Amino acid sequence: MPAPDPVPLPRFPADFLWGVSTSAFQIEGSPAADGRGPSSWDAFTREPGRIRDGSHADTATDHYRRYREDVALMAGLGVDAYRFSVSWPRVLPDGHGPINARGLDFYDRLVDELCTRGIAPVPTLFHWDTPLALEERGGWLERDTAERFAAYASAVAERLADRVPMWITINEPAEVTLLGYGLGEHAPGRQLVFDALPAAHHQLLAHGLGVQALRAAGARRIGVAASHSPVWAAGDGHADRAAADLYDLLTNRLFADPILTGAYPDEGLAAMLPGPVAEDLRTISAPLDWYGVNYYNPMLVGAPEPGTPTAFGGIGIPADLPFGIRQIDGYEQTDFGWPVVPDGLRELLVGLRERYGDRLPPLYITENGCSYGDAPDPVTGRVADARRIAYHEGHLRALHRAMEQGVDVRGYFIWSILDNFEWAEGYRQRFGLVHVDYATLERTPKDSYAWYRDVIESGR
Ligand code: BGC
Repeated sequence: MPAPDPVPLPRFPADFLWGVSTSAFQIEGSPAADGRGPSSWDAFTREPGRIRDGSHADTATDHYRRYREDVALMAGLGVDAYRFSVSWPRVLPDGHGPINARGLDFYDRLVDELCTRGIAPVPTLFHWDTPLALEERGGWLERDTAERFAAYASAVAERLADRVPMWITINEPAEVTLLGYGLGEHAPGRQLVFDALPAAHHQLLAHGLGVQALRAAGARRIGVAASHSPVWAAGDGHADRAAADLYDLLTNRLFADPILTGAYPDEGLAAMLPGPVAEDLRTISAPLDWYGVNYYNPMLVGAPEPGTPTAFGGIGIPADLPFGIRQIDGYEQTDFGWPVVPDGLRELLVGLRERYGDRLPPLYITENGCSYGDAPDPVTGRVADARRIAYHEGHLRALHRAMEQGVDVRGYFIWSILDNFEWAEGYRQRFGLVHVDYATLERTPKDSYAWYRDVIESGR
């Protein structure tokens, strides 16, 4: 058990935004309510063997029906903002055609509830639940999906822009490309390896077209939520450094460079992409008001070692990839097996600042969190999750150091307010400040909830 750090947390600016994050598919449940259509993830969870505990998200945390209780939990925390995602198949059940007004009504009610409680709603428009009808026509491999996304973005903004102060177009296009289309760990379960690259380009295009659509509908303060990890080379030799550089290119620069600089980081790679790429890059790089960073841990990457198993979110990487992911030793691990490296957040943020300079808009940490399985004590009911508190304390200290080194960070969103459906892991990984009993759906705030409430309160 980590010993509490006796040094108090540093003070953050008085206007620093404290928040929590979720996504629709991971918490809402109610897959058929009010005209919602099926998503790529509904179909994927039904395929045998895809989800490690054999579960699906038909109920998840039942947030669709319990959102008032959940907003009350957020109000109890004192957060300034709540980052959630809008379910695309609730709004466009078939991916195109008429808007399903009843689907939008849910977000209307949620936004009103948040505003009543003084919590800023921060919607993400795409957090991985593509309408199944679009997925069946190729999903993000098709340019048409980006155009459909823009129409959907308009519809949501027309309904909510009057009350929403900050918007996010898409969440983690790198994971969708790599895990969804490249390696098949996530929906839609394709294993296209490098042929997955069009999915990256079309998500980036969707982001750019989404920014245009949001602005046209009067939305303010638009950003994106991108996953980033510092990439460490496993050794000093050329082969390890080249492999780490390629991994960094494919997971970090491939997504940040087009948005922030208007160019792909590698001409050979850009030449493999479909469509009028140069013209698309102008759309993709339209100025943003802020940039969101999701950080969990660094990656240690070296030359591939045929026959050596590599752990990557629990999947074995196909042997013919030109890099190998190595275990990071010498750090504590979360229950997911991810290393706890708080200073990786500082390293990452300082690195972004160095690479993008004045092109980098103000940053928000849109996700940071850890999986620990602590459960309520059978006698007292208390959930003593000291390791989660230590994780967030460490990351907030690292974040503060980055700010002292000149990085402009305006806010921090914990992933997540609730335990929830953790994609291919099902319900086996718990990231919440609030424990969810999946049999009764009872919510129990953990010790980390009280800790975060005190952090927010003491900063005021
Ligand atoms: C995703 C979340 C996910 C979290 C933990 C991020 O990649 O945006 O949906 O639950 O990481 O794995």
